[in-house]
Formats: sequence, C-alpha cells, structure tokens
Amino acid sequence: MNLEKNKIAVIGHSRGIGKAICDLYKKKKYNVVGMSKSNGFDLVHDQEKILEKIQDCGLVVLNAHADRGQLTLLKKIYGRHSFDKMKVAVITSTSGIEEEPDYNEFQIWDKFEYVQYCEIKKELIQYINELQEELISKPLSVYDVCPDVVDTDMTKGLWENLPKLKADEVAEAVSYCFESTFNVNKMVIQKNAR
Ligand SMILES: NC(=O)c1ccc[n+]([C@@H]2O[C@H](COP(=O)([O-])OP(=O)(O)OC[C@H]3O[C@@H](n4cnc5c(N)ncnc54)[C@H](OP(=O)(O)O)[C@@H]3O)[C@@H](O)[C@H]2O)c1
Repeated sequence: MNLEKNKIAVIGHSRGIGKAICDLYKKKKYNVVGMSKSNGFDLVHDQEKILEKIQDCGLVVLNAHADRGQLTLLKKIYGRHSFDKMKVAVITSTSGIEEEPDYNEFQIWDKFEYVQYCEIKKELIQYINELQEELISKPLSVYDVCPDVVDTDMTKGLWENLPKLKADEVAEAVSYCFESTFNVNKMVIQKNAR
C-alpha cells in the first residue's frame, strides 16, 4: 500500500487532545483527516469506514476513547497494515498503569464507569506492549502515548488538586514519537513528574 507521508488521520478530532493534534499538524501543512462521532465516524460502530479513510495515511492517531474501540481498531490496523510503513500513536492513560487508581472522584464520575475505564486502558496498554515485540521486524510502528491528567472537557471539575497538562503538550509528545529517529515505544507525560 502506498501511504502519503504527510497525511495524518486523527480519530476523536473535534475537541481536547485530538483537536490540539489536528491544529499542530495543520500548522505543519499536513493533510489532516479528522474523524469523530459528530462527523459520522463512531469509533465503536464505524470501524470499516474509519479503516477505509486511514488506508493511505502515513500517520494515524487513535485518540478517542469509547468502550474497547481503540483496542479493536488497533488489532484491525495490525491485521491490515503490518507490512506498511504506517505510524500509529495510541492515546492511553496513566489510569491504566497505576496500581491503585485514584477513585476519589466518585461523586462526579460514576465509580463503575471509572473502574471500567481503567480496566480498558490497562488491557490496551498490555496489548500495545505485546504488539511492539511483534513489530520489531515489521514496518508498522505503534507508540503508546500515556498522559496523566489533561485539561479538557473530559476532566472538567475533576482532579482539581492535580496539575493538569495542556492538550497542546500531549500533541507535542505525539509529534515527538512520530518524528524521532528513536523508536519511542512508550511516553508517559505528567505535568510534574511525581
Ligand atoms: N483528559 C485527560 O485527562 C486524559 C488523560 C489521559 C488520557 N486521556 C485520553 O485522551 C483521549 C482524548 O481525551 P480528551 O480528554 O481529549 O477527550 P474529550 O475532550 O472528551 O474529546 C474526545 C474526542 O473524541 C471524540 N469521540 C468521543 N467518543 C467518540 C466515539 N465513540 N467515536 C469517535 N470519536 C469519539 C469526541 O468528538 P465527538 O463527541 O464528536 O465524537 C472528541 O473529539 C482519550 O482516549 C482519553 O482516554 C485523557
């Protein structure tokens, strides 16, 4: 498959981290393809449509979180593109690596939902880990970009006591992975490393 080096697809592009990534790559003069529920691309229900759109993109960002959508789409990308020089950044979360996640925000974020969120991100991180071993000898690259709390709609009123990253800073981390001459497997980003 012939990929366009300067074409980037961002799933979950209309707000927050995804929007910051789109803005950064527009500034870099890339052809930016944004997909979200609001323009007809639901990460869970429209995966075939999304796969069609990304098939010639050199860069892909699996940003939106919805159920196990990031994981199932990543598996399909691996199935179809392992012999393409495609670079895929997956936005995971420190909620998926903490031994004991901070469940103190129960009143605002339903506890069940948050426990599920942590489990899903954990499963995703483990899969990326295993996949990266598989990909050592293949052209496809997958990066785990793992932010701590970021100031977006998703965290409005939550974790007010913690320093929050800006969405732009996460976008910079994504571009570092894509543009580095090193193979950056995982980047954990925190405002003030604890
Ligand atoms: N904010 C944080 O503190 C933080 C920390 C660590 C990791 N993360 C991760 O970073 C990613 C982005 O978070 P964010 O804070 O930027 O979220 P956000 O501000 O809520 O934005 C979410 C984006 O995803 C799209 N989206 C939501 N559901 C979708 C679906 N089912 N299919 C397609 N697109 C969908 C939304 O657009 P539509 O509504 O139009 O679909 C929107 O563009 C997520 O994977 C999240 O888990 C966030």
